[in-house]
Amino acid sequence: MTMPIQNQPNRRAATIADRGPAPLIIRAEHEADGPAREALLDACFGANRMTRTCQRLRDGRLAAEGLAFSAIQRGRLVGTVRLWHVMAGGRAALMLGPLAVAPACRKLGLGAALMAHALAAARARGHGAVILLGDAPYYARFGFAAGPAARLVLPGPFERHRLLALELAAGALEGAHGLVLATGRAAPRPQAGPARAWPRPRAA
Ligand SMILES: CC(C)(COP(=O)(O)OP(=O)(O)OC[C@H]1O[C@@H](n2cnc3c(N)ncnc32)[C@H](O)[C@@H]1OP(=O)(O)O)[C@@H](O)C(=O)NCCC(=O)NCCS
Repeated sequence: MTMPIQNQPNRRAATIADRGPAPLIIRAEHEADGPAREALLDACFGANRMTRTCQRLRDGRLAAEGLAFSAIQRGRLVGTVRLWHVMAGGRAALMLGPLAVAPACRKLGLGAALMAHALAAARARGHGAVILLGDAPYYARFGFAAGPAARLVLPGPFERHRLLALELAAGALEGAHGLVLATGRAAPRPQAGPARAWPRPRAA
């Protein structure tokens, strides 16, 4: 479903709509968005993005049903966010990422609108918790904090202070302790290059 960004309950999203003839929209990701999404992610995160620990939780998996979104302006993909099924220390959860906005569209509220849209969709689908690896100064505004993820471990190197979580349902991560494991449906074919070996985490 296509949703005008100006419908988001977000002051800065309204600023985007006010810019006139080229509105930004957030809609469900289409399969055809793939090449533009990957090009945007390469531009935002660099060529080594596929070696990051979070990618281990996405390799060979499909994003969670109905939880991948694209932001479109003048027919061009200018933003992306996706969520993935995981088991987080024994609790069912979603892992959010990557979130990216094209440089020319930043600081207009689009990142916040993508987050609000994705989190509302996750909540509407009955998911209880979302985790991510990112900068707390950005994600705290959406309610993410390190506390609920304090006893979780990712399957590879990660910076503890960047592992954040948000409970959509109270207590959804209570008692969550241990490794975060990918649990999403297998993708029909490899999405991004050959499988990579990765060291087993010591803390698992
Ligand atoms: C992070 C990102 C998605 C934000 O998109 P955006 O559309 O500019 O976001 P918003 O307009 O909602 O918010 C912009 C505000 O967040 C701040 N911000 C952006 N990245 C930040 C970060 N890593 N830490 C703290 N604040 C950050 C901006 O400085 C700006 O602050 P202001 O409101 O005081 O001007 C975008 O900068 C981006 O794609 N960055 C590269 C990829 C990335 O780092 N993704 C996030 C990690 S998964």
